[in-house]
Amino acid sequence: MNQKQRHAAGSAGRGQDAIVLLTRDHERVKELFDEFEMLEAEEGGEDDKLDLVQRICMELTIHTQLEEEIFYPAAIDAIGQLDIMDEALVEHGKAKEQIDQVVSMAPEDDYFDAEVNVLRDMVEHHVQEEEGKMFPKLKKSSIDLAALGEELNLRKQELQMDMGMVEASMRKPQAGRKPMPPQGPMP
Ligand SMILES: [Fe+2]
Ligand SMILES: [Fe+2]
Repeated sequence: MNQKQRHAAGSAGRGQDAIVLLTRDHERVKELFDEFEMLEAEEGGEDDKLDLVQRICMELTIHTQLEEEIFYPAAIDAIGQLDIMDEALVEHGKAKEQIDQVVSMAPEDDYFDAEVNVLRDMVEHHVQEEEGKMFPKLKKSSIDLAALGEELNLRKQELQMDMGMVEASMRKPQAGRKPMPPQGPMP
């Protein structure tokens, strides 16, 4: 990232260090899963469920890509290739498989809600590991969380723009099948 890009990132994400940014992502995804749970309890509309699950999968895709491209390599530099880092990457792989499963289904399919809830359980476990084990270790390390936060914020904006284009093309799902989210080096 050049100086101009860093400045742009800093302006947009001022005061948000890497751990704050990622923790807010975690909270946002939790809120979306809570909304899904409410729809489930109310036996809400299938269209609303579809929109929500697409949103969840896009948020997770961006978040995991940010971590894999930028955050985890920096974390490994700072604290070493500890077991928690290996486990985090394996969990990303499992989550990606579950996202693929969810997006291959329509809300009216048998077990759709169950598959979404399995994804939620996987994400909750992973978040607990990151917030409970990985982040505290990083806070004690020499890692520059402010600079990393700027870098994450800039990349996040790029990925959100990419996803926005994909989201627009998702508006015409075919015959009740959910479109696939963009494939990238995630999660
Ligand atoms: Fe995370
Ligand atoms: Fe993660």
